[in-house]
Amino acid sequence: MDPRYEKLLSCLEQVRRQTCFVPEVGLVLGSGLGGFADEIKTEAVVEYSSIPGFPVSTVPMHRGRFVFGTLDGVKVAVMQGRVHYYEGYEITDVVLPVRLLGLLGARTLLLTNAAGGIGEGFRPGDLMLITDHILSFAMNPLIGPNLDDLGPRFPDMSHVYDLVLCRKFRTAAAEIGAVLREGVYAQLTGPSFETPAEIRMLKSLGVSAVGMSTAVEAVAARHMGLRVCGISCISNLAAGISPTPLSHEEVTAAANAAAPVFKSLLRRGVALAAETQES
Ligand code: HPA
Repeated sequence: MDPRYEKLLSCLEQVRRQTCFVPEVGLVLGSGLGGFADEIKTEAVVEYSSIPGFPVSTVPMHRGRFVFGTLDGVKVAVMQGRVHYYEGYEITDVVLPVRLLGLLGARTLLLTNAAGGIGEGFRPGDLMLITDHILSFAMNPLIGPNLDDLGPRFPDMSHVYDLVLCRKFRTAAAEIGAVLREGVYAQLTGPSFETPAEIRMLKSLGVSAVGMSTAVEAVAARHMGLRVCGISCISNLAAGISPTPLSHEEVTAAANAAAPVFKSLLRRGVALAAETQES
């Protein structure tokens, strides 16, 4: 058996020893957004560190645990903290958690992140619906022998971000009176922030938000046939647009400030998304 698949199955077994909870929706919480897990009516918590071989984040403010429970009756599995390629993990380890969510039963994956804003008129604290992404500057998580048990060798990426889910999130934003921007997200490797020249390049490519996560997870999830949706919290204006130097502290502080609206949007969005689970 492929060692990457073997590891995935062993992580699955370890989680199953702790809980038999089957989520409908998987949720990945980005920098500064982990507090959303407090909204969950918790049924089980599984610490990443309790799963042998499971990648554990080294980034400050990333907690490192799965919270299983219900959100307004919808069964969710929330990842409080993720790992990034820049931390030095193999790319298969970076996407192992979202693959695990798929194997645990989630059919829908909702990805969130803190991102640098590039889009015209974007401001820190804005929320952006990811309509597409560019991963060409970072590592593709499907490189290597294909894991046929998960999906095909050449998966289609025409609609990574599910059109129905996008519509549901627009509706959710309108219902709660939140402004939801939209745009293309570019994942770069990090960990250094971009240079102003890189941001000008991304802008000329039609990118609205830049970050160091999410697109790899979206590709791995689509490979498995999960329905994917993504929301960026614009935590800062990108380099060269921002008048001040960028810092991780600024990123988490802005994400924290946006948390109340973000929570409401996610809560309503998850409820609407679950309604369309089978459509
Ligand atoms: N660039 C890359 N990643 C980020 C940024 C940024 O400006 N802000 C938050 N994550």
